[in-house]
Amino acid sequence: MRLLMIGDIVGRPGRRVLQRHLRDIRLAERLDAVIANAENAADGSGITPSIYFDLIAAGVDCVTLGDHIYRRREIYPVLREQPRVVRPANFPDSAPGRPWTVVQTAAGVSIAVISLLGRVFMRPCDCPFTCAERILAEIPAGVKVRVVDFHAEATSDKQLMGRVLDGRVTAVLGTHTHVPTADEQILPGGTAFQCDVGMTGPHDSILGRRIDRVRETTITFVPSEFEVATGDVRVNGAIVTLEPDTGRATAIERFVFREP
Ligand SMILES: [Fe+2]
Ligand SMILES: [Fe+2]
Repeated sequence: MRLLMIGDIVGRPGRRVLQRHLRDIRLAERLDAVIANAENAADGSGITPSIYFDLIAAGVDCVTLGDHIYRRREIYPVLREQPRVVRPANFPDSAPGRPWTVVQTAAGVSIAVISLLGRVFMRPCDCPFTCAERILAEIPAGVKVRVVDFHAEATSDKQLMGRVLDGRVTAVLGTHTHVPTADEQILPGGTAFQCDVGMTGPHDSILGRRIDRVRETTITFVPSEFEVATGDVRVNGAIVTLEPDTGRATAIERFVFREP
């Protein structure tokens, strides 16, 4: 069984490349499931209901988010009611959205999806390691395939999460930095790991935003709107090959698709 985790979708360019090509990518890569981080999908920050439903229609089985999750308040009902989206599990219990979910593949394999947020250079939240233990105890034992999106800045924290959960989840895949790392590997216990799977959107940019705007504001301190860039649109992600009966990963490869 093969599962694609797609890195942070940025703005309209990131959405459009998936709407145009994800069906073909699913066929070409023989994918059974697609999980996508969409925290930057709405104009670079947050997600709206229509974007959520468009991504599901485009072939995404489950949406994860991150620190920008609540930028659009119209998404709150979707987070509360829809089964194919999770909020970071280490938010307060009262935060809108479900801390984990289970989605099914066409062949009937259940996949638990968990999102955790890091705490380095990010707004404080509960300990992601303690939270992961609590969530793993909640997920039914029969759900063997378990995928963790660790949305965090620090590579050290990401590596530690991989080691802490090794052998207990199918994959620990990082998001948030928008830059893919070259450390994809199967850990000793059978967990697929990569510090960051990258960004789906315009790569002729600074993390998806216009270079001129980021340069101007960074150098002069004069605020400007960090508009989403447009050039060199790519899909970044990781494809995990796994055994559905055990949930063990057997292979992980970096995935890049460049818009023709
Ligand atoms: Fe992001
Ligand atoms: Fe983020």
